[in-house]
Amino acid sequence: MRAAVYDRRGPAAEVLRIADVPRPEPGAGEVRVRVQASGVNPTDWKSRAGATPRPIDEFQIPNQDGAGVIDAVGEGVDRGRLGQRVWLWMAAAGRRWGTAAEWTVVPAERAVGLPDGVSMEFGASLGVPAITAHRCLFADGPVDGKAVLVAGGAGAVGHFAIELAKWSGARVATTVSSPEKAKLAAQAGADLVVNYTEAGAADQIRAFAPRFDRIVEVALGPNLELDLSVSGPETVVVTYAADGPDPVLPVRACMTANVTLRFILLYTVPEPALRQAADDVTAALRGGALTPLPVHHFRLGDCAAAHEAVEGRAVGKVIIDLA
Ligand SMILES: NC(=O)c1ccc[n+]([C@@H]2O[C@H](COP(=O)([O-])OP(=O)(O)OC[C@H]3O[C@@H](n4cnc5c(N)ncnc54)[C@H](OP(=O)(O)O)[C@@H]3O)[C@@H](O)[C@H]2O)c1
Repeated sequence: MRAAVYDRRGPAAEVLRIADVPRPEPGAGEVRVRVQASGVNPTDWKSRAGATPRPIDEFQIPNQDGAGVIDAVGEGVDRGRLGQRVWLWMAAAGRRWGTAAEWTVVPAERAVGLPDGVSMEFGASLGVPAITAHRCLFADGPVDGKAVLVAGGAGAVGHFAIELAKWSGARVATTVSSPEKAKLAAQAGADLVVNYTEAGAADQIRAFAPRFDRIVEVALGPNLELDLSVSGPETVVVTYAADGPDPVLPVRACMTANVTLRFILLYTVPEPALRQAADDVTAALRGGALTPLPVHHFRLGDCAAAHEAVEGRAVGKVIIDLA
């Protein structure tokens, strides 16, 4: 089969190439999926660039997220799943079979039925961002009737955090840095969209809710002061990204707020929570609560360019089409 592969870590243009590799066969408890769309996330380029310490087993096919059709099942998997349209999550976690290939094999529970009418490209947009958003929102219980602040509401995780929070009955405020991003966050259903680069942003957020129950945080360093100013004993600030410099923790201010800080990395979230997230994301999809972000399309041969687009902070989702 044709696949994008790398056998050493480094810049996309230097290490990513298209190769013919043997089509994988599903082992016990696995399904094989004919991939139709492969979604690219920051984690994919970071792993390729060297953030993952796991040694490469001969070659690595990148990309955790994807969507396609099950065309073979391993021992112990219901044969009724043959032909099922599925969305994929964490396909390349600890495995060489990422989704930037004509076929992938994943543990059966990581291929989740895609509701009728949901496109493959949207299915390939869900995995990492929607499951992360779910964990950020619900690790500390339900959010119905609660106030949720989503930092960076036009980002992929931020987008699904807004939509999953609204689906669950929360009031949602979000921050963005431009009118283009404000439009995306408003379309996702945020009740308040604030441009955090403008004067008065913090006042608008405090007027919406003097105390938030959840803060889904993409940039703890720059935003900690604002977060603490709207935190109290019920607040959990949930950080899922580490792009900027680490914050210096103002311990006294955290104590005064009685705030809880939580950190999330998908790869070490307990498996039952991941499966619950996949189920809930599918239920939200079925209920029409999730919508796609704008998509940037690439072909498999342009996998390096697709990675570079995500590395360059493309707004929306980067998808490699394999259909
Ligand atoms: N822990 C995990 O398991 C996990 C899972 C998924 C993603 N991540 C990480 O989370 C980050 C975001 O992923 P993504 O796929 O959502 O990326 P994305 O689509 O590029 O979104 C990132 C968003 O964050 C916004 N942002 C940056 N600095 C901000 C600030 N100070 N305040 C508010 N918003 C800010 C950006 O907009 P502006 O710069 O215009 O403000 C952008 O909209 C990446 O670093 C990724 O590796 C981690």
